[in-house]
Amino acid sequence: MSEDKTPSHPVFAAIYDPVMEHAEDSLLREIRESLVEDMKGTVLDLGAGTGAMFPYFKRATDQELSLTLHAIEPDPHMRRRAVQKADELNLDIAIQPEGAQSLPYADDSVDVIIASLVFCTIPDVDAALSEVARVLKSNGEFRFLEHVQADGWLAHVQTAVNPVWRLGAAGCNLDRDTATTFKNDDRFDVIELEELSIGVPPVAPFVRGALVPR
Ligand SMILES: C[S@@+](CC[C@H](N)C(=O)[O-])C[C@H]1O[C@@H](n2cnc3c(N)ncnc32)[C@H](O)[C@@H]1O
Repeated sequence: MSEDKTPSHPVFAAIYDPVMEHAEDSLLREIRESLVEDMKGTVLDLGAGTGAMFPYFKRATDQELSLTLHAIEPDPHMRRRAVQKADELNLDIAIQPEGAQSLPYADDSVDVIIASLVFCTIPDVDAALSEVARVLKSNGEFRFLEHVQADGWLAHVQTAVNPVWRLGAAGCNLDRDTATTFKNDDRFDVIELEELSIGVPPVAPFVRGALVPR
């Protein structure tokens, strides 16, 4: 069953950008750049947060004038900051309050869906992936950057600290095997999957990649 409860994390929203600033500059910049490479048509940012992808979208729209940008972000505190960032950047992006489990878009209507650091938090991963499969065009692409469960001793640590972590990190889970979930979904083919040697335990490793409809 889909989880429809609206997330609301004012403190997390307030500290997100300052806490992430160093990682954004030193670790995530190149990966975020790769997520927006050669985009065309209609793009959807799934769980936009405070708009971390927006500066990259801005540069992409400067190069590809025909891009149409959409985002969803269910947490009103994150969404307010995303709207503000879009205004500051003068970025034309339609930001909706729905969650990934019920996307407000027609079947077969989106060319590129981007999920960055969001499948750790989405409560109903199956419902969200079904929605990605529904709205993505048959020649579209689902691109992602996620932190996932580690192997070995770190996996045990992640499982042990996860209940506390979830409380402090707005429902984020350290112990999701998201890459395997994506690989095993028979509605998609994996066209790229890379484990990244970034991250600081317990938030490690990261994966980046892309799926296309089968
Ligand atoms: C760690 S933040 C990442 C935000 C942004 N994508 C980034 O790269 O910084 C995770 C985001 O997922 C959002 N989220 C929570 N539940 C969601 C859902 N059901 N559908 C979509 N996004 C959701 C949270 O509100 C939060 O803004």
